[in-house]
Formats: sequence, C-alpha cells, structure tokens
Amino acid sequence: MIAPNAVHEILGRHQLADGLPFVMDLERSHGSWIHDSRTGDEFLDFFTCFASWPIGYNHPGMLEPEFRKEIELVARNKPANSDIYTSHMADFVETFATRVTPEGFPHHFWIDGGALAVENAIKVAFDWKARKVGIDKVDDGNQLVVLHFNAAFHGRTGYTMSLTNTVPDKIALFPKFDWPRVHNPAIEFAQDGSIANDIEAEEARACAEIEAAFAKYENRVAAILIETMQGEGGDNHFRPEFFQALRGYADQHEALLIYDEVQVGFFGSGTPWMWQQLGVAPDIVAFGKKTQVCGIYASKRVDEVADNVFVRSSRINSTWGANLVDMVRSKRMIEIILDEKLHENAVERGEQFVTGLRALAGEHAGVSNVRGVGTLIAFTCENNSSRDALLAHLMDNKILALASGEVSVRFRMPLVVTAEEIDLALERIGTCLPIIASA
Ligand SMILES: Cc1ncc(COP(=O)(O)O)c(C=O)c1O
Repeated sequence: MIAPNAVHEILGRHQLADGLPFVMDLERSHGSWIHDSRTGDEFLDFFTCFASWPIGYNHPGMLEPEFRKEIELVARNKPANSDIYTSHMADFVETFATRVTPEGFPHHFWIDGGALAVENAIKVAFDWKARKVGIDKVDDGNQLVVLHFNAAFHGRTGYTMSLTNTVPDKIALFPKFDWPRVHNPAIEFAQDGSIANDIEAEEARACAEIEAAFAKYENRVAAILIETMQGEGGDNHFRPEFFQALRGYADQHEALLIYDEVQVGFFGSGTPWMWQQLGVAPDIVAFGKKTQVCGIYASKRVDEVADNVFVRSSRINSTWGANLVDMVRSKRMIEIILDEKLHENAVERGEQFVTGLRALAGEHAGVSNVRGVGTLIAFTCENNSSRDALLAHLMDNKILALASGEVSVRFRMPLVVTAEEIDLALERIGTCLPIIASA
C-alpha cells in the first residue's frame, strides 16, 4: 500500500489532485472524526463528504459480523441490477420503499450519481408531458423545457448543465439549452430566527416570472424543478407558501413538480425528506449522496399517462442500475438510523448549533442570517474574502466546513453528532471568527 505521505504526490502525477491536504484513514476515522494517516491529527467532520455520509465513520452497527459478511460477498461481484436480480437488491428496495419513501410514491428508479438522478427525473417529465400533449417527435432542444431557479445546483451532466447556475466556471464553455430560469425567493433570517426580508415581495417577483415563463412556453414546460433548500447556491430556504404556489402552477399547467433532495434528503433535516416539513408534496423526488444509492421516487400522477417510463421497458435505464454494495450499505444505514432514532438526535443537535451560532453572531460583527434545520446549518459572512479566510482558519483549527454561494459557510454534520461535539465546534468557530474582521 502507498505510504500516506506519498499519496498526494502520486495522485498529482496522474490527475488533478487539489483535494483536502490530509489523507483519510478509513480504519481509524470514527463517528464525527476524520483521522489523518499522515499526521495522526483528527478533524471534526462538519462537511461529511459533501453531505453524503450520514452516520459517521465506522459506526458500530456497520461492524457487526453478519453485515460484514454480506457486504464482502456483494463487493466481490457486481451484477447489472437493472436486469439481474438478487435477494440483496430486493431486501434494499423493500426497506427503502417501505421505511424511507413516503406514502403515495409507488415508482422507483435507481442509478449512480445525484446528477443522473435529477437527469432521469427530467426524462420522466419530458416523456410524460410529450405523451400528455400528443407530441410524437421532439427534434428541437427547446420544444420541451424545465422551469428552474437562480442559484440552482443540480449537477454537471448533460441536461443538468442547463439548470445549474452557481459558480460560472462549473458551466462555462459547455453547450446548454435555453430553458426558463426564474428568481429564487430566499428567506433571510433575523437574529431571533424570524424572517428579516420582505419575503412576500420576493415571492411575488418569482411568481410573476413563473407566469411569464408559462405564457412564453405555452404547453412546453414539462417540469418545475427546485431544490427543497438550495445548498451549493447559498443555503437558501423557501417558505411553504412558495412551494404551495409551485404546486398550483404545476397542476394548472400540467407540469410535474420535481424536488431535488440530493443534498438535503435522507434524514439530514430530521425527517426522511425535507419537503415533509414544508408540507407540499411533489410528483417526483431526486435523491443521492446520503442515500448511497441515487435515484428517484415518483407519485401516481405519472400514471395519468398510460405508457409512462415506469411501464415501458428501457425508456430510462443504465447498465449497473446503481451499485449492489451501495444497496446493502444503504439498507443497513436505514436500519441503524431508525433503530437509534438518529434523525431525532439531528433535530436536537441542529437546534443546539443554531442557538450557539446565533449567540456568536450577536458577539461578532460580520456574521448574520444563521439558518438551518437538523444537520443542515449555515450562516452568512460579510463578503467573499472574509468567508474564504474563515473557512481556511476553520480547517487550521481542525474543523471541516463548506462554502455555500458567494458569502456563506455551510455545515453538514453526521446524524450521530453529539452535544459535546457541537459545543466543541462552537468553541472552535468562536476562536476563528475574529479573522472575519481582519480579512
Ligand atoms: C442539490 C444537488 N443536486 C444534484 C447534485 C449532484 O450530485 P452528484 O455530485 O452526486 O452528481 C448535487 C451535488 O452536490 C446537489 O447538491
């Protein structure tokens, strides 16, 4: 095995290797802590591999002999799940569909990668809309369109390139479709958690732009696509009233309402899906990251079209049909989360963290808009350079966090995070905050 000190140099010889400076020790990392095999240092992980790792490292439930035997078996062979079925796969699908997917969503589709989950949700909608309005040939890239939002991040694949619009460098120079993009009416939170901006005016602006788009693309909008909370674009939260308005537009104009829960889904908010807290059901949800297995679940609205993609073979598909190792791991994680009520822990720890951050924001100029639920927490800095300086300083103080939008810091904790770890994080953040004033 390559020595830890040589890892970056060897990777750099063959690929762009500009990742984090430490080398993760998979055996010694534990709970909320990543162990650096080069130095022995431990980092408090409030980043969780871009919000993709739900229950901490080496959770005792993942070390049980029965689980180890099963995961070792499926790791040795890789069936094409779309056509070759196994008991392991059926076990996972049954567990996910009955314990994680909410009532009323009978259709599932599995694939590797969050962007491809979103991409396939869009394909479901294109197929549905085309059949609904009697189109039998689509030969213009703008004949059917997806209505989406400013500051959205949906991934970096073919269709999602036309929807993602956060950092310009992620999309520049790649050909895109010209699909309707509208204002994102984000809430700004005051120190006491109340709404600080004129959110009704924000929503009115978004709704006016949505109505103009439906008028311009008459009968051509296949879907309204929105992240339940925009992560990469700035941890932007929306009101339930706004989701209700989107539901109304989708119903009125025969478009499917798609939520992208790749970043926020799978218990991170305290409920299996964040939309359940907002109370407005979509037609399709795209998921990934913490679920391990990416994909979509869809409601019976899709069945309004008899020949939909869940009925016709191979309209949507991939060779592997996701990955069996991920399925076995995901099933075990679901059992652990529900048995240990880790989502309830997430809610309590999230409240503790938000309260602590609001107190820090009261003491330090240049920190505002503390927001979030469960393990999905953020605050806003005064400007881009103070935010970047703070993130670097947090890393020096062995706490991992993420940038969000131009000026925000976001934290993505594991569901197992403890009250002591939240206190320690607050202490370290408090130590780092003076850097904002000098940046
Ligand atoms: C909301 C959202 N959608 C889609 C994606 C794309 O997922 P992936 O990187 O697994 O393709 C991401 C990734 O960060 C995301 O945050």
